[in-house]
Amino acid sequence: MKIQQLLQQARSDLDVRGLPTPGLDAELLLAFSIDRERHFLYAHPAKELSSVELKRFRSLVARRMKWEPVAYITGRKEFWSRGFEVTPDVLIPRPDTEILVEEVLKLSVREGEKDIRILEIGTGSGAISIALASELKNAFITATDFSPKALAIAMRNAVNNNMEEKISFLCGDIFEPVEEKFDIIVSNPPYISEDEFRLLAPEVREYEPRQALVAGPEGTEFHRKLARDGERFLEKNGWLVMEMGAGQRFTIEKILKDKDYCDITFRSDYAGVERVAMAKKRE
Ligand SMILES: C[S@@+](CC[C@H](N)C(=O)[O-])C[C@H]1O[C@@H](n2cnc3c(N)ncnc32)[C@H](O)[C@@H]1O
Repeated sequence: MKIQQLLQQARSDLDVRGLPTPGLDAELLLAFSIDRERHFLYAHPAKELSSVELKRFRSLVARRMKWEPVAYITGRKEFWSRGFEVTPDVLIPRPDTEILVEEVLKLSVREGEKDIRILEIGTGSGAISIALASELKNAFITATDFSPKALAIAMRNAVNNNMEEKISFLCGDIFEPVEEKFDIIVSNPPYISEDEFRLLAPEVREYEPRQALVAGPEGTEFHRKLARDGERFLEKNGWLVMEMGAGQRFTIEKILKDKDYCDITFRSDYAGVERVAMAKKRE
């Protein structure tokens, strides 16, 4: 069968199954099956696959039909225009999280030429720290996670992106592995509530690590801990920058106001959902 026919058939099968982006998924899986980029498919719609390639493609589509995320099937995800290895031990980096990176970059630029120390809590695949390291010449980044398996992937991603000398990776529970103070603490913490978790699409609920997603009944338990203990690990005028979910502003604002933070601000994502909370530690 030709590439064009295979794409049509796979798109239709995935569509019937209710998958949200059947055309894109079919193209990504077919390109991966034949070890090519996606644009090759448009340039060679009449190419026939070998029997080995065809078998491979069919088995990948069968996995997607069971809602396994494409990124776990291919083992790759792009973030900040860089390539990252992903496995079911790490959350698949989301485009929304690039907004968190943008906000940290804006704060870092304000510091001018001075060296800047950044702590990332819950680094997962390492996407945030690696993106920041690629942009900031004067940053020293410490990235933590309590999952040794996630950290192993983050370290490989740092090496593959040539950023390993700019990031120290530490394993432990939230602030437990760090001792010094930082200018910026950044985190994309788990922020799904127990109730929301039950309603998530199967590709998230059944495949992504639960410990990367869920944080207590309201989804704000991790923000609470970051705000409470973060005070001790922030320099005066240092910033806490956290990703958040829809409808969490009221609770997070209260959490920050109850602690020693000022200049509390929120930034929305491109869909208009408040996505990032920022606050400065008082002098
Ligand atoms: C939402 S994921 C974010 C991953 C990555 N930073 C990203 O943005 O794609 C949250 C991460 O926090 C880690 N994590 C969860 N609980 C933790 C804890 N108590 N201490 C340290 N890390 C934790 C998880 O292993 C996961 O990697």
